[in-house]
Amino acid sequence: LRLFSGSANVPFSQEVARYLGMELGPMIRKRFADGELYIQIQESIRGCDVYLIQPTCHPVNDNLMELLIMIDACRRASARQITAVIPYYGYARADRKTAGRESITAKLVANLITQAGANRIVAMDLHSAQIQGYFDIPFDHVYGSPVLINYLASKQLADLVVVSPDVGGVARARAFAKKLDDAPLAIIDKRRQAHNVAEVLNVIGDVEGKTAVLVDDMIDTGGTITEGAKLLREQGARQVYACATHAVFSPPAIERLSSGIFEEVIVTNTIPVPEDHRFAQLTVLSVANLIGETI
Ligand code: R5P
Repeated sequence: LRLFSGSANVPFSQEVARYLGMELGPMIRKRFADGELYIQIQESIRGCDVYLIQPTCHPVNDNLMELLIMIDACRRASARQITAVIPYYGYARADRKTAGRESITAKLVANLITQAGANRIVAMDLHSAQIQGYFDIPFDHVYGSPVLINYLASKQLADLVVVSPDVGGVARARAFAKKLDDAPLAIIDKRRQAHNVAEVLNVIGDVEGKTAVLVDDMIDTGGTITEGAKLLREQGARQVYACATHAVFSPPAIERLSSGIFEEVIVTNTIPVPEDHRFAQLTVLSVANLIGETI
């Protein structure tokens, strides 16, 4: 078994390697003057089971291309099996056509990874579980929820209500609620009343006087979760926590999340959170052990 890391989240790969009691394999990564990438594996991997760790987070095109080149290099070096370990699977939100003449990028990326030569995928908390089916190779879909739920449970929050920030996230939020002593569930329902009329948010469920925990797969610009939090406060929630696996954190996420509306924002380390993106209410939990165990 050999483990290699792309450049997207090296500290995460190092944690996985530590968990497995291994070193990351040597690899040269260079950039040509025009921006093209060069990768060379620096040891023989002939006949080996190779694991390539690379979340396809920001800058998503570079990180995806780097993963593809790593897979191609390993295939051409006669690795026996190549597993792409993708803690955060980018381009996942376009998982179906919602209008004419659109691309389904989640499927396009699956095709690219398979064509490059991956034989197996390990990914965490996909935006939608059906993306597993876009691959015709074995796919281990790992959930970050044990780490997030253990952390929430350790806080012993009273009068808890778990909230899905949209209808699409209900199954995820329900699974959290079940594990948190069967806490009640609430759902934020976003809808447009007419064309050109702003979205109206409604809460389905009772949040008055409760500690609300908003659960999502990712926080990107922070718009969804912050709008949800404002509404929960208006409806009488005492405190609002935000909980998500993937800290995508595109601007203006940090300004929104640190505005004081959240008691705490809990994310994992599938995507690196640089020091200048850290704020007082942010907690970053490690899910490297879960990935290590899956490998
Ligand atoms: C949407 O379906 C996703 O689950 C997230 O709610 C969304 O991508 C978060 O994006 P943002 O933080 O930019 O609102």
